[in-house]
Amino acid sequence: MKPIEVAQGIYWVGVIDWNIRDFHGYSTKQGTTYNAYLIMDEKITLIDTVKREFADELIHNIIQIVDPKRIAHVISNHTEMDHSGSLARVMHIIGEDKPIYCSKMGRKNLSRHFRQIWNYKPVQDGGELRIGKRTLTFLETRMLHWPDSMFTYVEEDKILFSSDAFGQHYAGVERFDDQIGDEIMPHARKYFSNILLPYSPLILKLVEKVNGMGLALDVICPDHGIIWRQDPSKIINAYVEWSHQKSKRRVLVIYDTMWHSTEMMANAIVDALAQEGVEAKPMHLRSWHRSDIITEVLDASGIIVGSPTMNNGLFPTVGDFLTYMKGLRPRNKIGAAFGSYGWSGEAVKLISRELEEMKFDVIDPGLRVQYVPDEKDLERCYRLGKKIAQALPGV
Ligand code: FEO
Repeated sequence: MKPIEVAQGIYWVGVIDWNIRDFHGYSTKQGTTYNAYLIMDEKITLIDTVKREFADELIHNIIQIVDPKRIAHVISNHTEMDHSGSLARVMHIIGEDKPIYCSKMGRKNLSRHFRQIWNYKPVQDGGELRIGKRTLTFLETRMLHWPDSMFTYVEEDKILFSSDAFGQHYAGVERFDDQIGDEIMPHARKYFSNILLPYSPLILKLVEKVNGMGLALDVICPDHGIIWRQDPSKIINAYVEWSHQKSKRRVLVIYDTMWHSTEMMANAIVDALAQEGVEAKPMHLRSWHRSDIITEVLDASGIIVGSPTMNNGLFPTVGDFLTYMKGLRPRNKIGAAFGSYGWSGEAVKLISRELEEMKFDVIDPGLRVQYVPDEKDLERCYRLGKKIAQALPGV
C-alpha cells in the first residue's frame, strides 16, 4: 500500500500483513499492520519501523516521499520486533551514526536485541526534541506494555504516536477510523483484552496524567491497525471503560472434554444459568481460540472452568488456557470448577487452585463426576449453575 498523508507533511509509511494468523499465540484472523510514520520537517523523522521481513516495503514507501538517506533520526517508541525488526536495515541505509531517540529502557532493550553500538539518545519523560517547525514531546509509558514503551506527541499537529496502545490487529484497505466506523471496535477490544488488560491500573493513571497535562489531541496514530482521527476520544473512553473491568451478569463456561462427559456437565450448568436469567455461554477450548475467549472474559462476572482428568492432571487445552488467563490478570470474577474423571480426578482441584491464585472468588469446592454423568449428577450440575447465578453481583 502506498504512503498515506495523515496530516500535512506527516505520512503513514507502514505495511499491511494480510496473511498473519497467529501473532505469538493471539489469533489474528484478519491479519494486522505494522505502522511506521515519517515526519517531513527540517530534520526528517522516522517513527518506528516494521517487522524485519517487511523492511523492503518500508524502504519502498519512504522512497516515494524522500531519499531515505535524508532521514535525520529515528524515534523508537518500542523495542518489540514488530516495530524495530527493520531497524538494522534502516540504519544501514540512512547512516549508522544517525541518532535513535528512545527511552532509557529502550536503549537497553535495543542493545540486547541488535548487539549494535548505535547512536542512542535516551530521552526523559516529558523531554522535547525540536525538529524544525515542530517539537516532539516524549511520554514514558512504562509497562504499556513493555518497560521501554513510550509515546511521542507532536504539539503543532496535535498528533499522538501511541506505540501499541490504542492499536488493533486488523488488516484492511482502510487507514482511518472514519473509513471503517464501529466495525473496528471489536478488534480494538480484543487487542486490549489480550495485550493491555494486565496493565489496566497503569492505563487509568496514564489517562489521568494526560488529561492533567491538557494535551490537545486531534489524531492518535497507533502502531497497529487504523488511525483515530475522527474521534480519538472514542478509543480513550473505551480504554477507560475496559480498564475498570466492570462485569456484566454474564457467565462463561469454559471447558474441554474427552468423551463428552465434561461437556454434558458444561451444558447442564449453562442451562441452569439461563433458567436463572443469566447470560451464559459454553466455550469449548478446541472450538474457540484462547484469545477470543479472553475477549469475552473482559466483561463476564463468572468464569466457570471444566476439565476431564487426564494422566492425573488437567486436559492440555485447559492448562494452556489457565496459564494464558492468569498472565492477563482479569479482575472482579467469581469462579468454579467442574469435570468428569475415571479413577483419580485431580483436575477439578487443580483448576480451583489456579482460579484462587488469580484472585477469583471461588464459590464452590468444585463438582466432580465419575465417568458419565447420570440424572442425579446432572441435577448436581443444575444446582451448581443456580448457586453461581445467586453469587453473581447484581449488575
Ligand atoms: Fe506491536 Fe509490543 O509490539
